[in-house]
Amino acid sequence: MQILLNKTLKPYNSFSVNESADLIIQADSIQDLIDIWSDKKYTDMTKLPLGRGSNTLFCNHFNGVVVLNRLFGKSVTETDTDYLLKISSGEDWPALVEWCVDNGFAGIENLAMIPGCAGSAPIQNIGAYGLELKDICESVEYLDLETLQIKTLKNSECLFGYRESIFKHELKDRCIITAITLRLNKQWQPVLAYGPLSDLRNSKTTPKNVFDKICEIRSKKLPDPNVIGNAGSFFKNPVISEEHYLALCETYPNLPAYDVTEGKKIAAGWLIDNAGLKGFKINGAQVHQEQALVLINTGTATSEDILELANYVKNIVLDMYDIELEHEVRFYLNGEESFLSELFDERTH
Ligand code: FAD
Ligand code: EPU
Repeated sequence: MQILLNKTLKPYNSFSVNESADLIIQADSIQDLIDIWSDKKYTDMTKLPLGRGSNTLFCNHFNGVVVLNRLFGKSVTETDTDYLLKISSGEDWPALVEWCVDNGFAGIENLAMIPGCAGSAPIQNIGAYGLELKDICESVEYLDLETLQIKTLKNSECLFGYRESIFKHELKDRCIITAITLRLNKQWQPVLAYGPLSDLRNSKTTPKNVFDKICEIRSKKLPDPNVIGNAGSFFKNPVISEEHYLALCETYPNLPAYDVTEGKKIAAGWLIDNAGLKGFKINGAQVHQEQALVLINTGTATSEDILELANYVKNIVLDMYDIELEHEVRFYLNGEESFLSELFDERTH
């Protein structure tokens, strides 16, 4: 365990906003987590586990302890049909995907280049290019913060959905994920349904080809957080009813939409782009030029600039399409999770 002397959160959030915390502690083991959560010095302080901060916006000073997850280690076992990879939660997800591709563990390559820790992946059930974590997740191990005992949930108990899981609801603030176990089938089945991957639909395609293609697509559209502060898609793709979709199609015949059980999932990036907001700026915060669903810090953005911009985008989308966007990025205000709808007056429509 290491108590950091510098209390700035800037290096620990991918938006690179310049907020601070009362205390930042790096946890290197499960025992460190137990020690921090049972130490009387911290009993009255809010404690927040943080991976790489790639889906987190600190809205102001975090009055509490930010606990950086640096639990490392991985092990592989196998059955006749599958590889089982047990990964400690602090392992870097993009490095893990690359390591799998290089070492013959296929089936994870569509999730290349998603920043963050392996242990954060189940929280919003990370997904990209036709694959979600839930498709390869065997189980999730966590430290129960009430009993300080290790527990394990199998896949079906994690209640995975689109950018959803039990860790955002029933288990929120009640557990720290300590490891995940992935199940990768030895018989590789490439996932190539996503349009731009169609060139790879032939028998010679390898997991490395898919990995390389995904890296190429992502590098073109998504800003590298090491260069330009951002947290990937700021909002989730909204789901609307079939009737609402058909009504919108009368005005917007090119509206991209996908069938889901509850109706139609709409591309929020298209809604924002079609509203003419690409490149729109509020001080240092800007709607990304290549992917309108991504909000960026051009270098000088404060958390307020980003929040103002997010609220502006949300209101334009509501006015134009009668669709209420929900943010994917997790906000922390005064040491507690917060939401755009609480930060700005909810507008009646
Ligand atoms: P953090 O931001 O550190 O934490 C996220 C939340 O989880 C916080 O509430 C935190 O308190 C909590 N938390 C963190 N660790 C633990 C733990 N061990 N136990 C319990 N709670 C914990 N996401 C996708 O799904 N698909 C994409 O394609 C995608 N692309 C992205 C591209 C870019 C350029 C960026 C910057 C982000 C992208 N994201 C994407 C979002 C992000 O990468 C994921 O949400 C990722 O899983 C976040 O990991 P993290 O470790 O940075 O989480
Ligand atoms: N589009 C536009 N203009 C834009 C952006 C998108 O017209 O500025 C259109 C595209 O042309 C396409 C559609 O919107 O027709 C969807 O765009 P894209 O394929 O880029 O994906 P997305 O829906 O914007 C989602 C995820 C990403 C994930 C990609 C790839 C969400 C909220 N986002 O983005 O995840 O990488 O699909 O599967 O579901 C993240 O969660 O942080 C993230 C980056």
